[in-house]
Amino acid sequence: MMSSEVINRPNDLDAFWLPFTPNRAFKRAPRLVAGSKDMHYYTPEGRAVLDGTSGLWCSNAGHNRNAIVAAIKRQAEELDYAPTFQFAHAKAFELASRIAALAPADLDRVFFCNSGSEAVDTALKIALAYHHVRGEGGRTRLIGRERGYHGVGFGGISVGGIVNNRRFFGTLLAGVDHLPATYSREHQAFSKGEPEWGAHLADELERIVSLHGASTIAAVIVEPMAGSTGVLPAPKGYLDRLRAICDRHGILLIFDEVITGFGRLGYAFAAERYGVTPDLITFAKGVTSGSVPMGGVIARQSIYDAFMRGPEQTIELFHGYTYSAHPLACAAGLAALDVYRDEGLFERARTLEPAFAAAAMALKDLPGVLDIRTVGLTAGIDLASRSGAVGARAYEAMDRAFHDEGLMMRITGDTLALCPPLIVSEAQIAEMFDKVGRVIRAVT
Ligand SMILES: Cc1ncc(COP(=O)(O)O)c(C=O)c1O
Repeated sequence: MMSSEVINRPNDLDAFWLPFTPNRAFKRAPRLVAGSKDMHYYTPEGRAVLDGTSGLWCSNAGHNRNAIVAAIKRQAEELDYAPTFQFAHAKAFELASRIAALAPADLDRVFFCNSGSEAVDTALKIALAYHHVRGEGGRTRLIGRERGYHGVGFGGISVGGIVNNRRFFGTLLAGVDHLPATYSREHQAFSKGEPEWGAHLADELERIVSLHGASTIAAVIVEPMAGSTGVLPAPKGYLDRLRAICDRHGILLIFDEVITGFGRLGYAFAAERYGVTPDLITFAKGVTSGSVPMGGVIARQSIYDAFMRGPEQTIELFHGYTYSAHPLACAAGLAALDVYRDEGLFERARTLEPAFAAAAMALKDLPGVLDIRTVGLTAGIDLASRSGAVGARAYEAMDRAFHDEGLMMRITGDTLALCPPLIVSEAQIAEMFDKVGRVIRAVT
């Protein structure tokens, strides 16, 4: 654990171009961390910062867990790198089997990559190629959803629906359409868990199918809980309705579980929470508890089987990454899955959900709070924007939380997001929302 010693202080902030960050503001007053353990980060001065965001929705088992650290060290000494084009190593198969065992129904085949963005682009490509190899190559259209976040690859921003992530980057993929977002403050404000209102919005898929014709549509991709856009749980019954429409028209259904996978909603995958089986699941983040980059796609066996035709020595899918199933990531993934299982962390998230939701909702009457949404160990809190300065209030809240309260939280626009590691205690949940409450009072 980090103590008060001063470590890792950078002496020059110029060269690093930070992602999704106002660089000039950051470099004027940086928010730096130098160490981490369990529920905390430690600043270079040794100040503890409670991790309210699992890093970036990824450190679901908490930080620097001994078993995961040891597994990575052992692996680095034993086999640092192995290609998985034409060759392979044992832990890739072992991790794929473990993930397949956690996934619902016949989602039994796992393709590895290195991030959520790559997972999304991989899933979209598998969907397109699947129709192609089955002789339905006319199915090229992809359907996403407004406000969806599917990473930053061209596929992901094309099906995604966050305006600023799209508008700077040209024409994107052709032949993409979008479902409407599922959020309505008027009908859903202060819902705990899945809102009652909104299942009918899935029927918009029927309208899109009528418009383009089913035979042109390859896949629909949605997050079971849209996280990055500000925590929007699926309305009750919405995902079932999407599933039924996809089935009716031979369209593949992809759940982007990059955030919801590995316990965030109290189950290995949100598909299990909702009792809806998609055709493809994307994952990343929690698979290694954030310790080594890894992502992937879980496919139904029938999808994999559709590719296993033709002469045996031909490549079935022209896709992959140098670091697909990197040995360090596989070792970290196996160790993380052990921690999740041995400590019952998915069940723990489920058990803590009511206390977490109650603590979040207790902030309801604070000044400037427009809505609070909770699901699993996740909360989104909408603050009223300052006039002419959307995002400024939440930015100040995040900055104050880090410097004044010792809390890391996420923001998007003027929404605060909380999603702590699944090892969080009830006392830490109370501490976290006390800090959030003080910060909200300070910025309103
Ligand atoms: C649902 C979803 N898909 C994809 C991604 C992209 O993941 P990455 O940042 O690892 O590329 C994210 C990241 O937050 C996400 O929330």
